[in-house]
Amino acid sequence: MMDYTEVLENARKTILNCKVCPECNGLACGNTLPGPGSKAPGNGAHDNWKGWKAIKLNMDTFAPDIPVNTESVLFGRTCSLPLLTGPIGSLTQYSREDVTVAFNDGVIQAAFETGIIDCFGDGLAPAVLSGARDSADKYPGCAVPVLNPLPNEEIRKKIELLEDSATLALSVVVDSAGLSHWKSKGFGPGSKTVEDLKYLKSFTKKPFIIKGIMTPKAAEQAVEAGADAIIVSNHGGRALPETPATAEVLPEIVRAVKGQTTIIVDGGIRHGSDMVKALAIGADAVLICRPFAVAWFGGGAEGVKTYVEKLRGEFIDAMYMVGARSLSDLNPDMVRLPRLS
Ligand SMILES: Cc1cc2nc3c(=O)[nH]c(=O)nc-3n(C[C@H](O)[C@H](O)[C@H](O)COP(=O)(O)O)c2cc1C
Repeated sequence: MMDYTEVLENARKTILNCKVCPECNGLACGNTLPGPGSKAPGNGAHDNWKGWKAIKLNMDTFAPDIPVNTESVLFGRTCSLPLLTGPIGSLTQYSREDVTVAFNDGVIQAAFETGIIDCFGDGLAPAVLSGARDSADKYPGCAVPVLNPLPNEEIRKKIELLEDSATLALSVVVDSAGLSHWKSKGFGPGSKTVEDLKYLKSFTKKPFIIKGIMTPKAAEQAVEAGADAIIVSNHGGRALPETPATAEVLPEIVRAVKGQTTIIVDGGIRHGSDMVKALAIGADAVLICRPFAVAWFGGGAEGVKTYVEKLRGEFIDAMYMVGARSLSDLNPDMVRLPRLS
């Protein structure tokens, strides 16, 4: 297993537009878009990161001294951690050459071997989707395509291409409607209605995930559209500036739809301790994106596995120290939310 420091050092030699900061907190990448940053003025990714830092863990060691079990079942897959890797539609944001197909293959392999779930983007080039489909068949049952909100008939064709593959579920990312850097290239993501999403869901028998939910109302509408899961996400600050952090909206979304759909959250989650905070508040799993790009540039599938194992160690440690021995033990009393002024 590679050392995480070595992964970061290697990544610094190969990655473009990203400074490979010791802590991936959205500050150095600012408003680099295209690139890994946030939509101008460029504070979105950092705000997400700060959202988790503002939540504290309540340490309580009065608990049986037994091993921590981090297993969870997501979309029928028994996962070793409640963790998904984030989709990156085009790695050209990090590299002069388009390495998206190789990236997806490496991350899907690592997800398969570590017992987590990979989400991959549909990208701009058709080779991205067909390449990821091949990788999903090679490493069955752990990969989830995340399709951009193109016109419905274009999405339908992609769903048909994927339906008999060994992908685990199917997702549509509704907040890509705000990706101005793609719109400026004539690429046309746009907003969707409940009816559009019901229509798209009708073409798949796989669990249907809607990514890009930031309000209780949108979460309720996603449930109405038939979402088996939602991803609470502001696209890492890339779709709209000045949204709240995902950590800030998670409690109200949990209150609105907990139990009606699986709740996944992303945005600035970097450590196992952040994962504990999200699950204690009521998320069922978390998604992490940017650090997985760094990990892949730093060591391919091995680099990704190194980061997963780092998260696993931190997650087990934080669960143990708040007194949780399985995911069902995690509850809101284990965290301290920031006081609203
Ligand atoms: C370079 C880059 C490309 C991305 N491409 C996609 C994409 O194609 N589809 C998608 O749903 N999300 C995309 N995202 C958003 C991420 O999947 C994720 O929602 C976001 O980055 C928040 O997670 P993070 O703070 O852990 O990076 C992209 C993010 C970055 C930084």
